[in-house]
Amino acid sequence: MAEQGRNTLTVVDNRTGREYEVDIHDGNVINAMDLRQIRVKDDDFGMMSYDPAFKNTASTRSRVTFIDGGEGILRYRGYPIEQLAENASFLETAYLILKGELPTQSQLDQFVHDVTFHTYIHENIRELLHSFRYDAHAMGMMVSAVASLSTFYPESKEILDADTRWIQMIRIIAKMPTLAAFTYRHHRGLPHVYPENELSYTANFLNMLFRIGVKQYHPNPVLERALDILFILHADHEQNCSATTMRVIGSAEADPYVSMSGAMAALYGPLHGGANEAVLRMLKRIGSIDNIPSFIEGVKNREERLMGFGHRVYKAYDPRASIIKRTADEVFEVTGRNDLLDIALELEKIALNEEFFVSRNLYPNVDFYSGLIYQALGFPVEMFPVLFAIPRCVGWLAQWEELLRDDEQRIARPRQVYHGSGERAFVAVDER
Ligand code: SDX
Repeated sequence: MAEQGRNTLTVVDNRTGREYEVDIHDGNVINAMDLRQIRVKDDDFGMMSYDPAFKNTASTRSRVTFIDGGEGILRYRGYPIEQLAENASFLETAYLILKGELPTQSQLDQFVHDVTFHTYIHENIRELLHSFRYDAHAMGMMVSAVASLSTFYPESKEILDADTRWIQMIRIIAKMPTLAAFTYRHHRGLPHVYPENELSYTANFLNMLFRIGVKQYHPNPVLERALDILFILHADHEQNCSATTMRVIGSAEADPYVSMSGAMAALYGPLHGGANEAVLRMLKRIGSIDNIPSFIEGVKNREERLMGFGHRVYKAYDPRASIIKRTADEVFEVTGRNDLLDIALELEKIALNEEFFVSRNLYPNVDFYSGLIYQALGFPVEMFPVLFAIPRCVGWLAQWEELLRDDEQRIARPRQVYHGSGERAFVAVDER
């Protein structure tokens, strides 16, 4: 038996009595491939780990985002989310996430300039958006539109060239608000409003969404800043479902546009980014504070999920939810109070004192309050996951580039534990 204090794991295979020593690194990590030496017969495949939904498996090393789920800590490249939400703009934060350092003024000016001058989309993509039904879900349109961008920039397949990657990143960050605004205007049967280069990233987005007729659109600065903060809060979140999807598709060396359309499809799911839409629908369904106790009973009986609560990593309050809750108050000062907020606040208060939720460490996550702000800003619920995807494209791109530059990475191809039939002979149809 190895002496205590060594940074290794000693494994005894009781089938053979053999002992194996496995290195521990990064404090609590072993390499799954080190398990393969554990065999009964020398020509065995060796030991595997079984981990559905990857609940206890690190798929990568990363330097982008740090989360401490127990303490409710979230940092982008080491900077606490609270300080970025307080002091930075979304594009400044995007630069930090992509490049790893806060930009100097000249770096930021150049980045803002480059994004600003790539906001237009090809007219054929505008026509593609027109081909959808008026009531097509905005996320379905966005997944298609982002994938179609790959056909307009075939050079994006040169994914190993840093300069080519960078210009695609600029294009994606720049065009996401334009595509989103065009899907919204399609819904409303309104003409598209083209990007205005003298507006800020967020003001330009609001202009393309809501300008009706007026010569010059000036969004309320409180609402413009609130949306910028929401974009900062949603920019990345390490190896979540959609970032993992981006990495898995990217590991096959697909171009960033089709990789990101896959990530957006994952985000669309109601358990992930689609939760903000599901929260609003849930609050509307509850309808009044009086109905909360029966709804909570339904959740405890597994008839319902309290959407916007719970998280795979956070077992404390999602730090983003706290910031969003404060931002909601500032927005409602301008837009007027949303009566669904009262239901949400009461729901949170009751849930945080219910054993069912406390015992499962279920706290509000980023989606619980964000939808209330989006609704107050005038967005229909179908746009809520799109508002998540716009900033999250920065995180997806940072994770994608980190994957491509990581020498340890290969094409993603997990193993399985086979539980199907053994070999059997084909039976002709008239004998079945
Ligand atoms: C996002 O990963 C990320 O970082 C994602 C994200 C990001 O920025 O990218 O943070 C964004 O996706 C936030 C999560 C948004 N989704 C929702 O709000 C949907 C509602 N929440 C859940 O469905 C759930 O909490 C998940 C999906 C978020 C996490 O699910 P897990 O980790 O797989 O946990 P689980 O489903 O196994 O639940 C553990 C227990 C279960 O109870 P038991 O069966 O063990 O008795 O908690 C219960 C669940 O039934 N539970 C809930 C619940 N969430 C978990 N019960 C009621 N309501 C809920 N919301």
